[in-house]
Amino acid sequence: MNASVSTQQTPALYGGKSSRRVTVRDISAAKRRGEKWPMLTAYDAMTASVFDQAGIPVMLVGDSMGNCHLGYDTTVPVTLDEMVMLSAAVVRGTRRALIIGDLPFGTYQESPAQALRSATRLVKEAGVGAVKLEGGERSADQIRLLVESGIPVMAHVGLTPQSVHAFGGHPVQGRGEEAAQQLLRDAKAVQNAGAFAVVLELVTAELSAEVTRSLHIPTVGIGAGAECDAQVLVWTDMAGMTEWPGGRTPRFVKEYARLRETLGDAARAFAEDVVSGAYPAEGHSFH
Ligand code: KIV
Repeated sequence: MNASVSTQQTPALYGGKSSRRVTVRDISAAKRRGEKWPMLTAYDAMTASVFDQAGIPVMLVGDSMGNCHLGYDTTVPVTLDEMVMLSAAVVRGTRRALIIGDLPFGTYQESPAQALRSATRLVKEAGVGAVKLEGGERSADQIRLLVESGIPVMAHVGLTPQSVHAFGGHPVQGRGEEAAQQLLRDAKAVQNAGAFAVVLELVTAELSAEVTRSLHIPTVGIGAGAECDAQVLVWTDMAGMTEWPGGRTPRFVKEYARLRETLGDAARAFAEDVVSGAYPAEGHSFH
């Protein structure tokens, strides 16, 4: 019985017919098949259910919720309680996608034991299937303990937004021989520690391609060129909800809708109907 299960083909991550939840084993199988896949962030049950029904196989409850959902300037202030609450909502709103919860700044850097305590809350209280944390070599011990404890980990190297104050902004990573070698070491360190995938953020396309070729785990690119195994976008950026400073959309973002405009138009139309008395009409009223 077990042998026949283990030799079964795993379904395609996107466009597959399976209705069970995607697992990290499916993700490893996709890398072996050379199959590319999409990942989006999600922060609430309703939006997550839309993405789930659209077939998005992997969703990240990213600490980008700090900027996109909670009104902070950076990801740094996001707390574990906030992450647990919104991750639980995304899990409740989905049936098929693998849901990954981000470990917020200050909830894992101190020690592997601290990382395990935080990740355990996300798995037990929110029901996520995996966690993500930032850092390469510096986070390897944390990743190893989580994986040994049965918690799948997605790593995140390159530009790591929780270190925004140290980076002094959002510079592209991996430029120059020394930086490129360090990034390669970071990517290999997280793979060796047991991560099932690694996000490459704001990394040159050439270096991402080299990292992707040299790892057996999938790379998930954001601003990291076309050669990564998967691509992730923050959903509010992807859907044209984000208001960019000076109206300048970053180069790596592609807007697939103009939701900010659509929502604004809907709100204005509602307001005008209320002011003019056109809403509620007879058909919206009870007698
Ligand atoms: O928090 C987040 O949304 C992320 C993605 C950009 C990878 O870390």
